[in-house]
Amino acid sequence: MCGIVGVVGREAAAPRIFEALKRLEYRGYDSAGIATLVEGRIERRRAEGKLDRLAAVLAAEPLPGTLGIGHTRWATHGAPTTRNAHPHGTARVVVVHNGIIENHAELRAELEAKGQVFETETDTETFARLVDQHLLEGMGAEEAAAAALKRVHGAFALAMIFAGREGLLICARQGAPLAVGFGEGEMYVGSDALALAPLTRRIAYLEEGDHAILDHGTVRFFDAEGRPVQRAVRETSVSGAPTGKGNYRHFMEKELHEHPVVLGDTLAQYLEPAQRRVVLPALPFDARAIPRLTITACGSAFLAGLVGRYWIEQLARIPVDADVASELRYRDPPLPEGGAALLVSQSGETADTLAAMKLLRARGQSCLAIVNVAESSMAREADAALLTVAGPEIGVASTKAFTAQLAVLAGLAIGMGRARGTVSEAEEARLTAELLEVPAHAAEVLERDAEIRAMAAQVAKARDVLFLGRGNLYPIALEGALKLKEISYIHAEGYAAGEMKHGPIALIDDQVPVISLCPSGPLFEKTASNLQEAAARGGRIMAFTDAEGAPALSRFAERVVVLPHAGAFAAPILHAIPVQLLAYHVAVLKGTDVDQPRNLAKSVTVE
Ligand code: AGP
Repeated sequence: MCGIVGVVGREAAAPRIFEALKRLEYRGYDSAGIATLVEGRIERRRAEGKLDRLAAVLAAEPLPGTLGIGHTRWATHGAPTTRNAHPHGTARVVVVHNGIIENHAELRAELEAKGQVFETETDTETFARLVDQHLLEGMGAEEAAAAALKRVHGAFALAMIFAGREGLLICARQGAPLAVGFGEGEMYVGSDALALAPLTRRIAYLEEGDHAILDHGTVRFFDAEGRPVQRAVRETSVSGAPTGKGNYRHFMEKELHEHPVVLGDTLAQYLEPAQRRVVLPALPFDARAIPRLTITACGSAFLAGLVGRYWIEQLARIPVDADVASELRYRDPPLPEGGAALLVSQSGETADTLAAMKLLRARGQSCLAIVNVAESSMAREADAALLTVAGPEIGVASTKAFTAQLAVLAGLAIGMGRARGTVSEAEEARLTAELLEVPAHAAEVLERDAEIRAMAAQVAKARDVLFLGRGNLYPIALEGALKLKEISYIHAEGYAAGEMKHGPIALIDDQVPVISLCPSGPLFEKTASNLQEAAARGGRIMAFTDAEGAPALSRFAERVVVLPHAGAFAAPILHAIPVQLLAYHVAVLKGTDVDQPRNLAKSVTVE
């Protein structure tokens, strides 16, 4: 996902824009650039690749000026080259843009017919030249920007500066987040609070369809109809302290080792240890009255939601429909009167999940979001939000945020069960006690690192890997496969263990590691026999289990890693950690870019 930064400053803009862009690196990008006004003229410095390449360009050709915009680009239209790097524009106006301008082709044709000569294949240049054309036709900067914004369709956030206009920066939001920051006689704009934190903690978010006009000390907001509006200024909770890797090699490694703390912090929001009970804030629906719950999300967040479906159906006895947001929003599902929906998202900015929430709300479903970014669009637009307390997650692969989502879902399932009378006080105490053990158990799992690293050495040689689980561990098998795919680039599939005989067992030979989540419990025997069937055909069984399950599995498995016994309810939270660790170690062995895997972005704010 691209990142945007802008400064209407009194001191040099480029170094501060660069620092803010560094805080946006986690979003994933493949080129970057900055433009400033130098004695009224627009000057640009751009580079393909990571920010250190741009730093070298800036060192060779410093960029003075106190007004500027900057961008990290995750290529959508046009290859990740310097030529396609933002900012884009002309001698009169330059633009940085996050998102997609869907009608860029028709606008480009119209502008070429008017004599505009394009230099790149990007949709962003189309917008810049549309503003430029209005300027050439005599409009002032503000009018030209407003007129161009009326012509473009799509999901985008953008910022622009104009030659000769030292105290002017115009920005707009339509589908992708954008925040304005308030300094001392300076103003800023950024894709999120994290980018602006080194500059200011006072933030105001543009709403859908807004544009804003910044000068050195003030900002004017305008809504989608062009009417002047006010937007609330808040003190962001995001720290300005740089988020470093500490002693770890990668952000992902650091975040994996934050599981115990994050789980403890997140559970503490919703559990009362002394009374062994769950305490939830007011939900936007009456759990006793809803006929059905719809769960939707994307990627790992969806897989957390899948675990939530098992828990909520089993504890609260509510029918739950779960589907990925990119399918749900076009499936036109029948939705019951008085139904509710649960949206799960780390970033709170995922385009498909936001769009699904908009559809669900329009269809009368009360929407509860589980998000990690308190000031995200989803947190602000849902009827209510339950926060995970995972802190900023920089690695593109979701790790601590995923288990924190599970922790919230587990508490929610218990709380909904209590409200509906399907979970007794004693059952609540038992399940809460199981959850309260999870942070300590998570620390014990991390102590199995050496065994998991040894398993990774074998998995790293494979071309195809299978992950198997049953019941609430089936979504964790899917998560293990997703993690391995997305950071090591090895093909992997997660499967319900009971499904093996219906096809996937044909894949089994001695080249295929079969990673299984198989703790003792009600489904142990069935899962173990599925694994024996695979072993009998040469499959290389590697199992995560507990002390009780280990003896039986060790008779045929090539590798068994014994985890603490977590209980059937909390097992998914615990088993998520070793499969994430496994993916991490395989990726390190493969030498991939662990924190920013190829082709991926941390938050997918475009469809
Ligand atoms: C997780 O490892 C992936 N990076 C990705 O699937 C992610 O979970 C998905 O894009 C959803 O993001 P969100 O939680 O910010 O909505």
